[in-house]
Amino acid sequence: MPVFTVSQLHTIADRILTAAGVPAEDAATVADELSAANAVGHDSHGVMRLMQYVEMIRQGFAKPGAPVEVVRSGGSFTIFDANFNFGQVAARKALETGLEQARAVGTSTVMIRNCNHVGRLGAYAQQAALRGFSSMMAVNAPGPGGVAPWGGIERKLGTNPISMSAPWGDSAFVLDMTTSATAEGKIRVAFQKGESVPEGLLIDAEGNATTNPADLYADPPGAILPLGGPLGFKGYGMSVMIDVFGGMLSGSGVCRTDLPRGANGVWMYFVDIEQFLDRSEFDALVEKYVDSLRNSKKQPGVEEILMPGEIEQRREAQRRGEGVSVPDETWRQLKELAESLGADLSELS
Ligand SMILES: NC(=O)c1ccc[n+]([C@@H]2O[C@H](COP(=O)([O-])OP(=O)(O)OC[C@H]3O[C@@H](n4cnc5c(N)ncnc54)[C@H](O)[C@@H]3O)[C@@H](O)[C@H]2O)c1
Repeated sequence: MPVFTVSQLHTIADRILTAAGVPAEDAATVADELSAANAVGHDSHGVMRLMQYVEMIRQGFAKPGAPVEVVRSGGSFTIFDANFNFGQVAARKALETGLEQARAVGTSTVMIRNCNHVGRLGAYAQQAALRGFSSMMAVNAPGPGGVAPWGGIERKLGTNPISMSAPWGDSAFVLDMTTSATAEGKIRVAFQKGESVPEGLLIDAEGNATTNPADLYADPPGAILPLGGPLGFKGYGMSVMIDVFGGMLSGSGVCRTDLPRGANGVWMYFVDIEQFLDRSEFDALVEKYVDSLRNSKKQPGVEEILMPGEIEQRREAQRRGEGVSVPDETWRQLKELAESLGADLSELS
């Protein structure tokens, strides 16, 4: 497998997107988010998405350069319409607006309708925390997404991720998780590598348990199960509520049949910590709390207890040093894509 630096992955994404007609500033934004997802170890949300994104442009579903417009706003809330520009471009704009509003009045809510894939949701939550805010955000992914409702076998829900963050000294706690048993991208990675996936993540089109990722992409397709295994009704319930916040309240909609891929709806909520308690008091509470959790007696075989987001911080330190391995099949597809667009990746081959 070829190994690239994070900056090389950024270059690959930037050149491919620019060649596909994405305005330079937006291409750089999407390339930042994709390469950063690879850096923290979420390859499912890294440069492998470029094939999907360019296909979406070709189908006219992603609309590079479309205006990200305010459709409604009040003192502490704003609803944007992304008009199917890239999700990363819209999410960054929503983040800036949300932080500005929360700074003004203490808390704020921002929503985006008609949004494309925002990538790694935790990236925006992390930014908020590093700037002194606690945040909660969620995305209702396309209507007939990949996830079956609890007890069902049809794909009615998206993988509907939720992320929550808080400052932790100079760093951040970042919970960033799907409400399905797995992110679809992780199944796609296994599919591309020709590997099987763990039990309990997938069912085939007839509802039988399967570990073969190809079953998810078969015709008719299988489905991803909700998060929680035998308690999957909890993940299912969270997913439903994310459809309410991200899809219904944003105006993005659910069960849309007028679009080839459905639309993502985004909900973001921010709390300006300083307006609730002194930051020094908050930081002291966080330190005490982390110590208390870390000092828990551990289960056999467990060496340490990690905070949400810590595993990504560690992977990032490692990958920014050692580089990121890209599966041969992904690299082959990226080169083929670049060639089809006339993007020059020759110095990286
Ligand atoms: N944009 C979209 O539509 C979309 C849809 C689905 C998923 N995603 C993204 O996919 C990515 C992967 O999601 P996922 O659910 O597979 O993530 P995951 O299962 O790898 O991690 C989930 C959470 O658990 C924490 N964690 C992991 N191991 C831990 C440990 N040992 N101790 C304590 N905490 C631990 C992580 O820090 C993270 O906050 C996320 O970045 C998510 O935003 C995006």
